Amino acid sequence: SISDPLKVMISGAPASGKGTQCELIVRKFGLVHISTGDLLRAEVAAGTEIGNKAKEFMNAGQLVPDEIVTAMVAARLSREDAKQKGWLLDGYPRSLGQSQNLEKMQIRPDVYIVLDVPDEILIDRCVGRRLDPVTGKIYHLNFFPPETEEVKARLITRPDDTEEKVKSRLNIYKQNAEAVSSSYSNITHKIDGRHSREAVFKEIESLLSQLQYDKVKIMKSG
Ligand code: AP5
Repeated sequence: SISDPLKVMISGAPASGKGTQCELIVRKFGLVHISTGDLLRAEVAAGTEIGNKAKEFMNAGQLVPDEIVTAMVAARLSREDAKQKGWLLDGYPRSLGQSQNLEKMQIRPDVYIVLDVPDEILIDRCVGRRLDPVTGKIYHLNFFPPETEEVKARLITRPDDTEEKVKSRLNIYKQNAEAVSSSYSNITHKIDGRHSREAVFKEIESLLSQLQYDKVKIMKSG
């Protein structure tokens, strides 16, 4: 086993493909996937206090207040599995305050991946997105239709995936992107996210494989 596991951050605009790539990364590298969007949606679905607070912000396409999200991420990162297997942080940090919180906790990734996708593609991806509430899998009506009629019948649409709300989410992303990414400029890898899911993953896979190899080599020589 590897005693210095990979620590990965993935960022990019709404619907740039973060969740889709995370499914593939987890399958190959076994990292613990920590998606603030998924964690928040689970709180909303369970009707918890956090969920009730977060819901109105999410449905309006706005950011949930930092303190709520930061507490959630800190709790998840400190669990034993994340320390053992490494982690894949998806959708956090999303504001300057959040990246400063990570600095304070001395949490730094090995690599900061940015999925780069033009705006006009993002709107189509959002509006056609469907989720399987049973498996958590992400589909798209045109690009990744469900495998069976049974899955198709239970797919749900996210309340924040209307064209209007996507535009608001995209604006908020753009307002924060530079401030957040400046903390990670020396470990940033921009990836062209316009290509197919498989082509994008190929690039991420080779990047992470190389990183993992380098880490093992450093440990053996050190
Ligand atoms: P979150 O769930 O993180 O939403 P997001 O950042 O807007 O990202 P998405 O989930 O919309 O997209 P994605 O990049 O994962 O794309 P996907 O793979 O699904 O956050 C939701 C909300 O929670 C926020 O708005 C906010 O309110 C709150 N929140 C979360 N984190 C927060 C934080 N840190 N602070 C404060 N608030 C926070 O793909 C999209 C679609 O495209 C799918 O249909 C997919 O099938 C398709 N697709 C994917 N890849 C490809 C490809 N290569 N080719 C063609 N189609 C593709």
